[in-house]
Amino acid sequence: MPDLFDVMARRRSVRKYSPEEVREEDINAILEAACSAPSAGNLQAYEIVVVRDKGRRRSLAEASFGQMFMAEAPLHLVFLAYPARSSRVYGRRGAKLYSIQDATIAATFSMLAAHALGYGTCWVGAFDDERVLHIVGAPKDRIPVAIITVGKPRGREPTTSRLGMEEFVFKEVHGTPFPHKVSMKNLLRPRC
Ligand SMILES: Cc1cc2nc3c(=O)[nH]c(=O)nc-3n(C[C@H](O)[C@H](O)[C@H](O)COP(=O)(O)O)c2cc1C
Repeated sequence: MPDLFDVMARRRSVRKYSPEEVREEDINAILEAACSAPSAGNLQAYEIVVVRDKGRRRSLAEASFGQMFMAEAPLHLVFLAYPARSSRVYGRRGAKLYSIQDATIAATFSMLAAHALGYGTCWVGAFDDERVLHIVGAPKDRIPVAIITVGKPRGREPTTSRLGMEEFVFKEVHGTPFPHKVSMKNLLRPRC
């Protein structure tokens, strides 16, 4: 199993998938990883719909403004924020912020776990909320936060670049660049 820094450094969005199914035990491991994520007050104000059905995956791709690459991925994980579960304890902040954050962190954990297991994923956030809720049969008070497509990559993904840290990481006060010497290459060095 690769180490966490390795997974983070090597992960790239995958938009071409082979038809190979995601193994049952791997789905369970990915879901367990998602559920291990932190959440506000440990309320886990989110739900996950596991979608493997071909027709439903196609509908989700169509509801994502025609991002048909999604349909190729044998597994979709639909992360829904559940505002009411958080607002019972945290009121408006729970509904508007924490439930979205809970779902986001869980989705991120699932993504990293899938990559660690040798799968590719893509975070899909551009979709019609109402259509997604309808396709997965979810109540209207849920908020779809992300659809994570999962499957074995077909071919290699292009690498993506990032902003220089000096542009957005600050030391002590906003605007003072944080001096850093870290690069993805450093992250991939063996550590003890
Ligand atoms: C909130 C969010 C929404 C995204 N929505 C989409 C999407 O709808 N379709 C897509 O192909 N990629 C989507 N992505 C993936 C980004 O395009 C991708 O992460 C970014 O370009 C960096 O590339 P990388 O993941 O390969 O490093 C989304 C990512 C995030 C975090």
